[in-house]
Amino acid sequence: MLAGCSGDRSILDPAGQAAREVAWLWWGMLAFSTLVLVVITALWLYAFRGGRPTERSSRDEKRIARRWIIGGGLLLPGLSIVVLLAFGVPVGQRMLPLPLPDGQQAERIEVIGHQWWWEVRYPDAEGGEVVTSNQLMMPVGEPVDFHVTGADVIHAFWIPRLGGKIDMIPGRTNVIRLEADVAGVFGAQCAEFCGAQHTNMQLHVEAMPRDDFDAWLAERQAPPEHSDDHQAARDTFVEHCASCHRVAGVSDGQQGPDLSDIGDRVSLGAGRLAMEEGAIGYWLRHHQQLKPGNRMPSHDHLDAETLDDLGAWLETLSP
Ligand code: CUA
Repeated sequence: MLAGCSGDRSILDPAGQAAREVAWLWWGMLAFSTLVLVVITALWLYAFRGGRPTERSSRDEKRIARRWIIGGGLLLPGLSIVVLLAFGVPVGQRMLPLPLPDGQQAERIEVIGHQWWWEVRYPDAEGGEVVTSNQLMMPVGEPVDFHVTGADVIHAFWIPRLGGKIDMIPGRTNVIRLEADVAGVFGAQCAEFCGAQHTNMQLHVEAMPRDDFDAWLAERQAPPEHSDDHQAARDTFVEHCASCHRVAGVSDGQQGPDLSDIGDRVSLGAGRLAMEEGAIGYWLRHHQQLKPGNRMPSHDHLDAETLDDLGAWLETLSP
């Protein structure tokens, strides 16, 4: 139970105002429901008490029963719901993309849920749109509007330490405004069951000072440099992978994750495998065992060496 109180995906360790209010609401509800549990248990035990039979007429009994039903069954729950609404509605209000004072603009980040990975787009980046996948960088200390949608089925976008979750529905765009008060790494998780690999649909979120964030975007404006050392691997990629994956300056596939900066990521398969030397080759050889059912076809018709070389080249793709 205590493990839920910290960690990079704990709602009880908030890192933004909206999340803090959600956490307070959670504690309030826990306290209140504990109180209800205690009272109900006490009444239940009281019902077992011994003692003389009462002298009450059946009419009196009915009157008393009615009082309990109206008080305990209608008034108390009604009152509880009103109190919850009074605290809950303003918490939700904070996450709506309302106009900001002084003409301030919230940073716009688009997040698209796929089975089972995240596409992240920065349409307003100076110098042209930046696209990445399975990682999300954001500025700290300023509001960010996340425009979310789903590409195939319904997913849900959730950064527990920053605030509430929001559904990603195909054909519709939902917007949630979140703000990080502290720089750091936060975990995010798909929060709507979306198929066999729903668990392995994790997103690495990093909040950083504005200057670092702008530098991160700027780095991605220039296509990665490709050395001649990996020409054979590049040819393999163009033949077998390019129709699904984009690598800036090499291919423009849109089916799978954009790989232009894959060498710079912390994990593969949306959190399934830690990124380290040789990890991409390993992933290419075993991805259907590591993440069964994922949309990338098996590449077992290529020999292990070819896949490892391909992985080694992909690992160099870093801004
Ligand atoms: Cu995507 Cu669950």
